[in-house]
Amino acid sequence: MKGIVFREFLDMVEGRFGMEVVDRIIEEADLPSGGAYTSVATYDHDEILRLVDQLHQATGAPAPELVRAFGRHLFGRFRTLYPALFLKVDSSFDFLERVETIIHIEVRKLYPDAELPTFECARPGPGRLVMLYRSQRPLADLAEGLIEGCIEYFGEAIEVGREDLPPGPGGETRARFELTRRSQP
Ligand code: HEM
Repeated sequence: MKGIVFREFLDMVEGRFGMEVVDRIIEEADLPSGGAYTSVATYDHDEILRLVDQLHQATGAPAPELVRAFGRHLFGRFRTLYPALFLKVDSSFDFLERVETIIHIEVRKLYPDAELPTFECARPGPGRLVMLYRSQRPLADLAEGLIEGCIEYFGEAIEVGREDLPPGPGGETRARFELTRRSQP
């Protein structure tokens, strides 16, 4: 996983819990990298899971909730860091469909060794979007947080359902997200 993701994570932890907690979780996680991340370098994704586990122990918040919160935070940061990817997109469904077809392709141009998930999207009916997440990494909670951050950014009333599916070939993580536009009252 790219250093930029780790740096954003540690920035979020600093903003919410303070520098002391950042120092403590880095120390307790006993990381191969030592916790000094460079944006463009690549680190074992397991380090983020170790940091999350330490943050869970430091704060008592459940680990999946911490990863989702990070996903929501990260979406806001992507908005600031990559404004061009947001041009001419005016709904979360359109944006989310572009993650696989455009956005992560651009990410790979920037970082050829990026470790990215795949999303298969379908619109089974009006006001509905289904996204099938597949990855060699167990980061469906991060996907959920990013999806929530996206919906929040576009200010839409959309419910997100999630079903964790049995692992795919080679133990890949699979989850199905079902987004439904809430009807106006
Ligand atoms: C402007 C928008 C976005 C940008 C610039 C972006 C960029 C990135 C980058 C740089 C990584 C890290 C790759 C690595 O560490 O090697 C990543 C991973 C990831 N992205 Fe995106 N992304 C965007 C939107 C989204 C959205 C909306 C979703 C959810 C639908 C998503 C789902 C994920 C997930 C789950 C990962 C973690 C890797 C994995 O699960 O295998 N991304 N993305």
